[in-house]
Amino acid sequence: MKSKINKQQTTWIIEQIKLLAPKRKIQILDFASGNGRNSIHLAGKNKNITAIDKDSTKLVQYSYFKYINTICFDLETDQNWPLKEKYYDIIIVVNYLYRPKIKNLMNLLKIGGYLFYETFSIGNERYGSPKNPNFLLRDRELINLFSEKNEILSYFDGKIIDGKISVKQRCLIKKTS
Ligand SMILES: C[S@@+](CC[C@H](N)C(=O)[O-])C[C@H]1O[C@@H](n2cnc3c(N)ncnc32)[C@H](O)[C@@H]1O
Repeated sequence: MKSKINKQQTTWIIEQIKLLAPKRKIQILDFASGNGRNSIHLAGKNKNITAIDKDSTKLVQYSYFKYINTICFDLETDQNWPLKEKYYDIIIVVNYLYRPKIKNLMNLLKIGGYLFYETFSIGNERYGSPKNPNFLLRDRELINLFSEKNEILSYFDGKIIDGKISVKQRCLIKKTS
């Protein structure tokens, strides 16, 4: 069942996944999934979604959807994430940044899997929240974090005008080893 919840999904990710996704069943992780706008849109017979977030009031809104498994968990403690390693074909992270564990995301991907990352970057503070540098990516930060052992397939850093103005990075990374 597609969503009856009217929430705008992250279009570039949804469109790219349509192009990338093979016919076989794949596992997608929506990391810090919030109200599930992307999970709900992606879930389907060939796309199993694991949606993880610390906010149970958000997760409960879509925990009943077929093909979505929700997990309520604080991703920023010393506890290991309750997620299988080398298991996901695709991970998406949108509007979330926690630097201390960010590189661990790649351990969750299968070799050949894809990480889609979109969040706010420096410059966004001129237009709105977030303004705290802890939540704003630095210049080329996603490339610098992930390019050593992986392939950067696309990268954008700049203004996005979507009703309002924001400044964001968008990066698509393929795990190659
Ligand atoms: C701005 S929302 C983005 C949600 C979703 N990715 C989207 O784009 O719609 C950030 C999400 O991160 C979650 N979050 C923040 N800190 C977290 C933590 N320590 N552990 C798990 N989730 C967290 C919040 O609950 C919130 O749902």
